[in-house]
Formats: sequence, structure tokens, C-alpha cells
Amino acid sequence: MTINIKPCTFEDSRKLQEISSETFYETFKEQNSAENMNAYLEKAFNIPQLEKELSNTSSQFFFVYFDNEVAGYLKVNTNDAQSEEMGEESLEVERIYIKKEFQKHGLGKYLFNKAVEIAMEGNKKKIWLGVWENNENAIAFYKKMGFVQTGAHSFYMGDDEQIDFIMTKTLV
Ligand SMILES: CC(C)(COP(=O)(O)OP(=O)(O)OC[C@H]1O[C@@H](n2cnc3c(N)ncnc32)[C@H](O)[C@@H]1OP(=O)(O)O)[C@@H](O)C(=O)NCCC(=O)NCCS
Repeated sequence: MTINIKPCTFEDSRKLQEISSETFYETFKEQNSAENMNAYLEKAFNIPQLEKELSNTSSQFFFVYFDNEVAGYLKVNTNDAQSEEMGEESLEVERIYIKKEFQKHGLGKYLFNKAVEIAMEGNKKKIWLGVWENNENAIAFYKKMGFVQTGAHSFYMGDDEQIDFIMTKTLV
């Protein structure tokens, strides 16, 4: 069993689209209507949108491989790429997704440690993220990683306004 992380390049947009759509769908399909799900998948993960995000020098994407198969991915943002104005001393974990079949094997923690490494290299003071209030699995994972809830913001899934908890981990 080998685990590897590789940065995504601009040329990886299709591969990124596949894993982004697949993991988002399997995570949220049971709690959202098909219409809202499809609207979100089309808006968030179309190729021009992903290429725009891949070109942003304040964002970084990584694939995690389990025995040479893409098992998940990570997106982190700094500076203006953050989805809230958190300032230059923060790093946002915008997306961290592991395919269902590879969950609970330590891969989420492996990707999270990559985010910590990037934050430390950039002298960031904290890591933050937004997580849907009903995503109990992810909230439990983030608590295990040392995050605490520090706020909330709203988020649109299609036409459905949902609440995201803001969770923060202070780096020492
Ligand atoms: C949340 C997610 C990234 C966690 O990744 P994972 O690979 O399953 O988690 P890991 O195996 O790395 O777990 C790391 C630690 O967290 C703990 N953990 C993970 N999920 C947990 C849960 N639901 N409840 C309690 N602890 C949990 C593990 O026991 C492990 O503890 P340890 O360090 O003491 O061994 C993954 O489940 C996922 O991709 N979920 C779907 C997508 C999603 O919701 N992403 C977040 C969107 S905001």
C-alpha cells in the first residue's frame, strides 16, 4: 500500500472535474434534490471554472493517490483566493474530499497534513474552512484534527440556502 500526493497542473482539469463531481455527488446526494445537485455540479465543476481556479496563483490543488489510483483531492487558498476575507495570515481548506471506498484509511489526515505544511511554510497563523452544518462526518473529522467552530456563513446549493459552520485551527 503506497500513498502519494501530487500537485494538480492546468492540464489536470478533466481529472479534477471527474473526482470533484464524483466525490461531491456521493457526499451530498442523499440530502439534496437532484435539481439542486445538478445545478451545483454544473456551476462549480465546469472546465472553464476549474481552469480559472487552477490558474489562480493563490490556490493550490493536490491529488492523493492510493496505490497509483486517484483517491481524493485537496484545494487550499491564501490571500484573495479565500472565500471569506480572512487576511494574509490565514489559509483556507476549501475542499478536502476522499472517495468513499478510500475513506477511513488515513488519507484525509494525510491531505490535511499537507495543508498544515503549506500554511507553516507561508507563516500562516491559522487554518480555516466552511463545512455544511449537516455534514456530521466531516465535522467529526475536523474536530479530530483540532478545529473549533468560530462562526457561520450561508452557502447556496442551487436555490437552497444552507448554513456552513466556519471552523478554525490556530497554528503554533
Ligand atoms: C472528511 C474526510 C475528508 C475524512 O477523511 P478520511 O480519510 O475518511 O479520514 P482519516 O481516515 O484520515 O481520519 C483521520 C482521523 O479522523 C478520525 N475520523 C475520521 N472520520 C471521523 C468521523 N466521522 N468521526 C470521528 N472521527 C473520524 C479518524 O478516526 C482518524 O483518527 P486517528 O487520527 O486517531 O486515527 C472524508 O471522510 C471525506 O472525504 N468525506 C466526504 C467529503 C467531505 O465531506 N469533505 C468535507 C467537505 S467540507
